[in-house]
Amino acid sequence: MTRYIGAPTSRVDGFAKVTGAAKYAAEFDAPGLAYGGVATSTIAKGRILRIDCEAALRVAGVIEVFTHENRPPLPDDDEAYKDATSPEGAPFRPLFDDRIMFDRQPIALVVAETSEIARFAASLIVVDYESEPHRTDMFRDLAAAIPLKAPSDSSQDAQFTPPKTRGRPDEALAAATTRHAGDYFVPIEHHNPMELFASTVVYEGDGRLTVYDKTQGVQNVQQYLCKVFEMRPEDLRVVSPFVGGAFGSGLRPQFQVMLAVLAARALRRSVRVALTRQQMYVLGYRPAMRQSVELGANADGTLAAIAHDALTITSTYEDFYRQETAWSGLLYKCANAKYAHRLARLDLPTPCDMRAPSAPTALFALESAMDELAVALEIDPLELRLRCYSDRDQNNDRPFSSKALRECYRQGAEAFGWEKRNREPRSMRDDGELIGWGMATGMWEALQMPIAVRIALGANGHAEVACATSDIGTGTYTIMAQVAADMLGSPLDSVSVKLGDSSLPQSPVEGGSWIAASVANGIATTAGAIRAELLRLAKRMPDSPFATAADSEVALVDGKLVTTGEPSHSALIADIMRHSGVDRVEQEKATEPRDDAARAHNTHSAIFVEVRVDEQLGVIRVTRVVSAIAAGRILNAKTAKSQISGSVVWGIGMALHEETLIDHRFGRIMNANIAEYHVPVNADIRDIDVIFVEEAHDANPLGIKGVGEIGVVGVAAAIANAVYNATGKRVRDLPITLDKLR
Ligand code: MOS
Repeated sequence: MTRYIGAPTSRVDGFAKVTGAAKYAAEFDAPGLAYGGVATSTIAKGRILRIDCEAALRVAGVIEVFTHENRPPLPDDDEAYKDATSPEGAPFRPLFDDRIMFDRQPIALVVAETSEIARFAASLIVVDYESEPHRTDMFRDLAAAIPLKAPSDSSQDAQFTPPKTRGRPDEALAAATTRHAGDYFVPIEHHNPMELFASTVVYEGDGRLTVYDKTQGVQNVQQYLCKVFEMRPEDLRVVSPFVGGAFGSGLRPQFQVMLAVLAARALRRSVRVALTRQQMYVLGYRPAMRQSVELGANADGTLAAIAHDALTITSTYEDFYRQETAWSGLLYKCANAKYAHRLARLDLPTPCDMRAPSAPTALFALESAMDELAVALEIDPLELRLRCYSDRDQNNDRPFSSKALRECYRQGAEAFGWEKRNREPRSMRDDGELIGWGMATGMWEALQMPIAVRIALGANGHAEVACATSDIGTGTYTIMAQVAADMLGSPLDSVSVKLGDSSLPQSPVEGGSWIAASVANGIATTAGAIRAELLRLAKRMPDSPFATAADSEVALVDGKLVTTGEPSHSALIADIMRHSGVDRVEQEKATEPRDDAARAHNTHSAIFVEVRVDEQLGVIRVTRVVSAIAAGRILNAKTAKSQISGSVVWGIGMALHEETLIDHRFGRIMNANIAEYHVPVNADIRDIDVIFVEEAHDANPLGIKGVGEIGVVGVAAAIANAVYNATGKRVRDLPITLDKLR
């Protein structure tokens, strides 16, 4: 039954991608297509007093300029602009009124015959503003930050607020034999997917729209657009077959899709709006986070107390936050803990989810602090983690459904050669370079969401599997084909996968690492219904060997329905269908996750890192990474490894390169481009070894946890810890640039 599941299958869409046959949102064409160019504000806060589009309108080829003054009617209701992933508050409404809430806010859309004309004309729009004082510095006016409240009773209904205090943390800290306290900072980071955000809206003549959009959730975008434009879902289809990376930036419908639909409806013409790289810096970001972590240890090197205080940022109009401090309550055994989380409301766009939202930031602090505590205790940092190993989720007082973290530590350390480490900083050297070894733990969620899957199996052996989910580059097409092939007993190349279309069966957004578990178990459910239907038909065959067989006693194997007991009987699926006079069997089923809130569901990892630091210049190279991952059953050893390697590269970027810089005088992001927003390049990346630790997981039938996000968590801390081991310098402020090693 598992011929394909687990195998290192190459991407089924790989050929289409490398040959350019795979089409992205900005590549769909339509007769008479017009192009949008976005104009953006140059102040961070205030009002538009006058917006002069005369010069833009005079450019040959300009069709129309939309601003808040001449736009078509839009609902004056915050609810209409909310989507499935909106945080609390009032969502940004593009072109709604004269208010400016952040720098580079879109204020006009020029529609023209070519994109060059549209962009040029957008640059000619003249705006008079009434500026108001803005605040983009999270450390200014700290007293105004909003404290988030811990849940009063059950913490399950408020997972994004800080966990409840447990034990007596203040007394425990005071009594601890060894203490460490530190402040850690992670700056704003941006997703920077390769593909630019774009939407091509095809005006279908009768007013219906087909919207090709870069998104992680076609149905989420469809529902949003239907509310904003008061359209019926049957008249507005959202399609997104391929996505060139998104990492969370495509969870919310972004403003270009709203503007493209607005223009297409007003002009009764197909319109494409593609953003520039600079314009993408207002689509959301990983919020900056300042954390104070205090740890107290008992004499035996176990944790006596944790205090974790976080300050993160949000916009003035929405409160975005995640469970930043909860990770430190979850990772280690500790009877006494307290948490605080404050939000600074700034004149910036609302932050959004970015790969493993809150976990890499939170664990940069906790895992750096654990390393510092190990130094103070004069014990090995891995040994400290083993002494503090927790078999329970102490935030919610429940067991983990599975947790093979001990095995991650063991296998990772062995593959890395950790036992040869010298704890003394600056003790390992080679050819003018200081060598440092560091490690950290990672943790993420293992979630499953309600989903629906349709399968049509033909008498010719061809199977089509359909679901409105996305493949944001994670390999969803491939794992769907693998699971379906095994469940239907079909060869892989006779399965075709349809996704990224709002007209397909219901799917949540692709996020939170939950799609693999959701869609694979969904396929198993629907394949079960196909099998049951084939059994029903097979019972009608003359002298049917299946006459008394129960559903649980048959399987689909190699194009046949077979009985699993002895003696084994079989019939060709093609014969069963032919006998019943049908040429296909089709089923659509919804799958709900099991109610399993009595247990915590998480993935875990252990990361071991070697850095080499040039003694003269301070240049840091991450020369070796071993990432040992426990994430339940791995559906595809190749694409899963690719997810983890890519995440490790993200962790290297987080540790050494990435930083969004704001000039607070103007409230403007100064490095809104990938020349000045540094990300790792190939030359920065050396050996990355990924180990998948075996882990039996019974929270869903296929035992899947998901691997899209766990790989980035903990990497930055492991690197910072390795830099300390190499140099004796503790950098608590990311990124670790060479000036900080002086
Ligand atoms: Mo992920 S940050 O939920 O795309």
